[in-house]
Amino acid sequence: MSDLPTGTVTFLFTDIEGSTRLLNELGDGFGELLDHHHRILREALSRHNGVEVGTEGDAFFVAFETVTDGVNAAAEMQRALAEHRDQSGVDLWVRMGLHTGEAQQVGDNYGGLDVHRAARISAAAHGGQVLLSAATAHQVQVSPRLDAGVRVLDLGRFRLKDLAESEQLFQLCIEGLRADFPPPTALGNPLHLPPRLDEFVDRSHEIRTIQTLLSERRLVTLTGPGGTGKTRLATEVGRVAVSDFPDGIFFVELAAIFDFSLVPSTIARALSLREEGARPIIETVTDYLASKQILLILDNFEQVVESAPVVSDLLRAAPGLKVIVTSRVSLLVSGEHEYPVPPMALPDAQRLPDLEVLSEYESIDLFLKRARSVKPDFALTGDNAPVIVEICVRLDGLPLAIELAAARARLLSPHEILTRLGQSLSLLSKPGRDVPQRQRTLMDAIGWSYELLDPELQTLFRTLGVFRGGWALDDVESIAHREGALGVDVIDGLESLISSSLVRAWETDEGETWFVMLQTIREFALQSLADSGELQHFRMVHARYFADLARSAEPEIFNDDQHWPDRLDLEHDNLRAALRRFIDAGEIQEGLVMATHLWRFWQIRSHLAEGRAWLTALLDFPKNKSDPATRAAALIAIGGLTYWQNDFAMTRVHYEEALDTFESIGDQRGIAEALYNLGFLFLIDGDTKRSLEIHGRSLAIYRDLEDELNVAYAKWGLAMAYVRDRELDEAARLARESQDTFERHRNWYGRMLGEFVLLQIDRIAGNHDRVLALTREILERPEMQKDAVGISSMLEVQANTEIAVGRPRRGLKLAAAADRMRTEHGGGAPPPLLELEDPRALVADVFSEDTIEGIWFEGQQMSLEEIIAYSQKDGESDE
Ligand SMILES: Nc1ncnc2c1ncn2[C@@H]1O[C@H](COP(=O)(O)OP(=O)(O)O)[C@@H](O)[C@H]1O
Ligand SMILES: [Mg+2]
Repeated sequence: MSDLPTGTVTFLFTDIEGSTRLLNELGDGFGELLDHHHRILREALSRHNGVEVGTEGDAFFVAFETVTDGVNAAAEMQRALAEHRDQSGVDLWVRMGLHTGEAQQVGDNYGGLDVHRAARISAAAHGGQVLLSAATAHQVQVSPRLDAGVRVLDLGRFRLKDLAESEQLFQLCIEGLRADFPPPTALGNPLHLPPRLDEFVDRSHEIRTIQTLLSERRLVTLTGPGGTGKTRLATEVGRVAVSDFPDGIFFVELAAIFDFSLVPSTIARALSLREEGARPIIETVTDYLASKQILLILDNFEQVVESAPVVSDLLRAAPGLKVIVTSRVSLLVSGEHEYPVPPMALPDAQRLPDLEVLSEYESIDLFLKRARSVKPDFALTGDNAPVIVEICVRLDGLPLAIELAAARARLLSPHEILTRLGQSLSLLSKPGRDVPQRQRTLMDAIGWSYELLDPELQTLFRTLGVFRGGWALDDVESIAHREGALGVDVIDGLESLISSSLVRAWETDEGETWFVMLQTIREFALQSLADSGELQHFRMVHARYFADLARSAEPEIFNDDQHWPDRLDLEHDNLRAALRRFIDAGEIQEGLVMATHLWRFWQIRSHLAEGRAWLTALLDFPKNKSDPATRAAALIAIGGLTYWQNDFAMTRVHYEEALDTFESIGDQRGIAEALYNLGFLFLIDGDTKRSLEIHGRSLAIYRDLEDELNVAYAKWGLAMAYVRDRELDEAARLARESQDTFERHRNWYGRMLGEFVLLQIDRIAGNHDRVLALTREILERPEMQKDAVGISSMLEVQANTEIAVGRPRRGLKLAAAADRMRTEHGGGAPPPLLELEDPRALVADVFSEDTIEGIWFEGQQMSLEEIIAYSQKDGESDE
């Protein structure tokens, strides 16, 4: 084809997000959707001189002679796609990536690194998002012919798959369309930072200074009052420092942590490490960091200054680790370098420079950026310049205060903002050096913004202070509904608070909108709630609401759709706060009920030790603080957690006390549950006869109660005992029956339990191929990916089988990966129930000890994705 553009060309790649899912959902309708999609894209292409180079399935590859055409085409496509979504209700989201570079023509196609780069950038985008390379973004900014309502947002640097250097990525923001995406899904992306929700005012001087400090020191603490820009600076330093930390940059949010003992586990979470049974989590973290070059950003450390020694310990144990802390106070540990974050640069109000120079002052730049985000045509003029300068000076150059003021630019002119500020600010401006004064300025600015709210909005705002770590829309709606008195439509109210910069929102990976307040603003809200005398009341309203949430989640925890565990993960800080309030208020009964509802969540999402700690704290209160049935149920819950931690001695203590209690009050369901659980302990101890008998009793009671789901569990327990007794036909029959029930309940967990029995039976019978086929299939299921216990057990079963069929290397690697998962999760299926042999012993006469160590090490290093992909390898070779 001779009409391919030559020279400098802009490449566009597009691709439908989740096309496999759409195909499954729509079936035959998918072809029609694809036609619409092709027509929408081609219309935009023809209007903007795009040349279609290649189309494969739902992916387009297009070349443009000019950047302007490329960008305008992408924007038009996204607009038309949004319209299609509105009209059809079909979730058609397309990711797009643009890069501008040299065209290397290969026949009727292009080749070369620039095409490759464009494809990688597109792959990093989310559905609905348009990502641009720096080359493209740069030209866009100098191009005068962009469509109205389109602008470019700098997202920072990311490392993309197959590209040696990290890439600076930009997002095209198209007015009226979604703009708040999670960070680009770059593979192996080492940056684990919160998303950028708005434009950054470049503070290159501060960033460079902190970078220099960081090259000499290993612990830099950014100090200053709330709203100075500490967090923002720390994350931006993280973005530019990416090449110095090959193992990644991790952001650890401590704002919602009220108990300093949770600091190590919060760091562990940020690093995606899990708890490890009885072993202190700090050791897991230390081991992990020991050999890595990592930058940790610990945000809002003032909450937990008692934990400063933890930071010293980590630095001592991990020579490649560096830490940036943001805190209102310094840590006062050795080796720390404190960097007080200065306010944003202010011009001299007496001698104003010309407008262009003026707009380069950080504080003015910030005011303009934020004002434009609520009023796109806002401009700096000779008239308003002195007023805007005056506002920034009054606000001491404090970024948060400036944001709050600028957020009002939609309705108020700068002059009106200044007048109202003047009425409210308690101080005449002095150069903002003195910290207490800046603190006061900020509180005044928040207070000012608060005063401008209607009384109903003020109430809503105050109430929101009660949430920890953020909230979902339902949360406020329920509390508002319950309280009747909030008096505003919650969605309208939140929108106003967002436009006032008091609240922020983004979309989670699960597609929920999640709302947060900056720490300083939340403190103000809490203080107002206390001043209005409503604090204690709302704390209990909050606690009861989250107790209800836990109650609603409990029966659905194992549902195929995973909605509830995802939600509880998101709300974990609120759940913790609720439990804490029950404990503080002495409401032990309610606390026990809530914690009991949460235990399965703690189990499958790797919070075994934390769950155990909550239940222990609650059970330590005198018995008369709760009724016996509640207490016994909580004993079953804590027993469950200790069971998965493989602490069988404590488990027996808990289950036996529960059984005694249920028997003493004649609670049949409770008796059945305690027996069911004790049945496994007998099996672990090798007392198969006793186990059969006890599981049989539990099954009989559940049958009497016509409790279908628990009948299925009890049948499964009995099946496990029959496997041990080598009554395989009976075991298989019971397992299949239980599976039918689990299937009907869409219970993935129970389904897997049943399958486990069938796997054991096949293993005992030597049906290796069937075992491998089933473990591979189970390991690939989406619902399994977050269940460390299930995955490690399946990997272990597969490992033994791979060895049995003559693939010792593969078996050993799988076993090593499973072993690491057990460690990270802090537990797993009880080994005696799995009846497996030690894989290292099995291969001892095949490999030398060194070889075994080498393979084991390789397996332990594999990521979850890698190990799942590896488990799927079929065929004879032992690789
Ligand atoms: N350089 C900057 N560019 C844009 N916005 C900024 C900048 N610095 C701070 N802000 C904004 O000001 C507010 C307060 O900053 P933040 O970093 O949260 O302060 P701190 O951590 O000191 O409390 C935030 O909304 C933040 O986005
Ligand atoms: Mg902060």
